[in-house]
This record gives sequence, structure tokens and C-alpha cells, in this order.
Amino acid sequence: MIVGCQWGDEGKGKIVDVLAEDVDIVARYQGGANAGHTVHVGDDEFILHQIPSGILHGGKRCLLGNGVVLDLLQFCDEYDALVSRDIQVDGRVGISERAHLLMPYHRVLDRAREDRAAEKIGTTGRGIGPAYEEKAGRRGIRVADIRNENRFAQLVEDGVARAKDRLAALGGDDGGALDQAMERTLSLRDRLLSLATDTGLEIVEALDAGKHVLLEGAQGTALDLDHGTYPFVTSSNTTAAGAATGVGIGPTRIHEVVGVVKAYTTRVGNGPLPTGGDAAIDEKLRQLGGEFGATTGRPRRCGWFDAVLARYAARVNGLTGLAVTKLDVLDTLPEISIGLEYCFPDGYCTREFPADTFTLGSVAPRFETVPGWEEDTTGCRTLADLPRNARAYLDRIQELTGTPIRFVSVGTRRDQIIFVD
Ligand code: IMP
Repeated sequence: MIVGCQWGDEGKGKIVDVLAEDVDIVARYQGGANAGHTVHVGDDEFILHQIPSGILHGGKRCLLGNGVVLDLLQFCDEYDALVSRDIQVDGRVGISERAHLLMPYHRVLDRAREDRAAEKIGTTGRGIGPAYEEKAGRRGIRVADIRNENRFAQLVEDGVARAKDRLAALGGDDGGALDQAMERTLSLRDRLLSLATDTGLEIVEALDAGKHVLLEGAQGTALDLDHGTYPFVTSSNTTAAGAATGVGIGPTRIHEVVGVVKAYTTRVGNGPLPTGGDAAIDEKLRQLGGEFGATTGRPRRCGWFDAVLARYAARVNGLTGLAVTKLDVLDTLPEISIGLEYCFPDGYCTREFPADTFTLGSVAPRFETVPGWEEDTTGCRTLADLPRNARAYLDRIQELTGTPIRFVSVGTRRDQIIFVD
């Protein structure tokens, strides 16, 4: 499986795209259309929010597991857009019957709440929190519910009524857009039913037949509902253990967990970014790395590589390997820093990621600064091709995380990757 080790946007889409070549099934296990996986194929750019990135590899089966919240409108728009760009999608996508539907009213509620919140999370506005709340509150609507027309109609009616009440309590109004969106969602019912499947069963049968499966995480470890910087997190378990639950298999069936880290750190949305905060570095990395959100277009905050977080991610996810992405973004920098530990205002320093998000906002990391390489790495295809200082930087990341580097990405294109033996 592939899991993000920072605050999302680590470049998982690219790694999934490269590895999808050698697997039979790619499955997503959590999140919804808040994800934004950018993949470059030749000169074409694809941004996928709801459909697994594996779809760009002909013949691969792509699944959305029960842990995903399915935004049907977004899903169908994305599906149709892929078809219009000559990607063969029919027969290749399956959606868990146990997945919950993210309804148009969840989006409306998400935005209304964020607009009025005193302390904003900075959500993507895609309805994620409200959809998972209804799932945990046992009021959600699952794909399987669509089979029974009366039951489905009743669940939708109840959901709309509940949402309108909550919206009124928030002093909001959707101006009739909700009824329109609901009508469209209901009209897509048959289309959804034709894709419904048991993802756990499909995956286990494939594994038993000797096939290969890739589980594709969205967001990152620091956005995990349990292990991230709560409450500035998403509403699902983004970490490795969530993958088994999220597709319906036992954890013993997962034998490789590759964590993706960017060669520096970024964050979009609110909440602390310990290695950020230097305005000049923030701007420099954002411009060099094109760090603007794939889903919302928001500028991402940028900072140096955070070894405390990466080491924590290695532990929480039980990583067997690392993929380091966007190394080339650092090519022109004379010096590069790495956050080694967090120091609190009272002088206490730690290398363990703290649970208290609000004190995390006050830490000053202790940095180690290493020389840059000031050479173009975008043409490197082996570790030996890399400048000596770039190799030293990777060695240091490997040492600090205690995790072997398996892949290094040096550009947006599929071929711009180093496979480490
Ligand atoms: P939500 O998932 O839309 O509820 O947003 C919660 C937090 O997760 C916000 O800080 C978002 O910016 C962040 N977030 C959600 N999805 C992504 C993603 O794919 N990449 C980066 N940040 C994300």
C-alpha cells in the first residue's frame, strides 16, 4: 500500500501511477473528493479526486472501498471526463456496496459550517466531515441502500430534511441549489448500481489467485483522524491500518507499506506546520514546487523536511519503505535544512510527535543545515546519477526515519523516477 506521511499532497498519485503498471487492482480505502491526485502522462495532466489514479493504466481494475465516501456527482463527472479524453473506463471501476454516499447536502453543510466557525479547519469544502459524521452517527446512506427504491427514497428525504434544519440553525440558505443537486444525484442511481461490488471479496480472491493489489491512500498521516493534528485533520483514517478496514480485508494481507514524503513539507488548510513559518523559504519552495492545492487551488504553506513527523509516520504506519518525491524542487538551493526535533518555549525538546496540537503550534524546531547540490537532477535515473550532496540528503532522511528509500521522484513525468534496489 501507498500512504502519505505528511499533510497530504506528497505526490502519492505519481507513485501509484508508476507502481500501477505491475498490479492488477488499485483500490482507494478512505476519503472522498477532497483528495487531488495529479498525474502526468506524456504532456497530459490529469487531476483525479474520486477515482483511483490507477485508472490511467489500461486494463487495471480500480476499486473504491467501503471506507470511501462517494460523491456521486463528482464521480460521474470525473468518469465522463476520462472517457472524453479517450481513457477506457467501462468495466474497470467497482464501488463497495458498503461505501457511504456523500450527498450534495453534506457539501452545503461543510461550507456553511466553515463560513461561520470561530476556529476554521480550512476544509476543502467537499462535504467530508458531515458525510463521515452521518456514517458514525448511523444515519448515513450506503451504496447497498440504493437497491431498495423505497428505503433509498426515505433515507434521502430524511437526510435532506435534517440538512435543511441544520442549515437553518446555522443561518444559511442554499438558494434551491440543493434540490437541483439532489435531483441529479437520484437520477444517477442506476449508473451507481451497475458498479456496485464487494471490494474485500474481490481483493481477497485476486490475492488468492496470485494477483497483485495496490491500496492507494489519500491525504496524509498528519491529517489522520486519530493520529494527526486533531482537530485540523480530515475525518477518516488515512494511515496504513485504515486500509484494511477501508477495503474489507484483514491486515495480514498487506505485506508492504510504502510511505510517501516530499523532500520538504507542505500543508494546505489550517493547523500547525512546525518546520514552516520562514516567509522567504515558504515563498521560495511554493514557487519552485508549484505548491497550490489540486482540489481547491489554495496556496500551500511550505517548510523544510520535518524528520520528527516522518519518523512518527514510519512508526504509525509500520512503513517498509519510503518514496521521496520532488527532490528536483531543491535543485537550485545552496543550503537545505531538516527539522530534527521540536523545542517548546520552556526549553523542553523532543523527537516524538506530540499529541497536543495547540502546543505544537508554539514549537521551534531545531534544524540541521546541509549543503545543497545546485545541479539539475531531473534527468537522473539511478542513485549513482545523483549529485553527491543529493545522495547525502537522501541518506540522512533514511537514517532519521529508520526506513529504506525505495523510490525517488525527480520530476512530474512517469519516467522521472529512481527505483532503489
Ligand atoms: P476535509 O478533508 O475537506 O474535511 O479537510 C480537512 C483538512 O484536510 C483541511 O486542512 C484540508 O486542507 C486537508 N485536506 C483534505 N484533503 C487533502 C488533500 O488531499 N491534500 C491536502 N490536504 C487535504
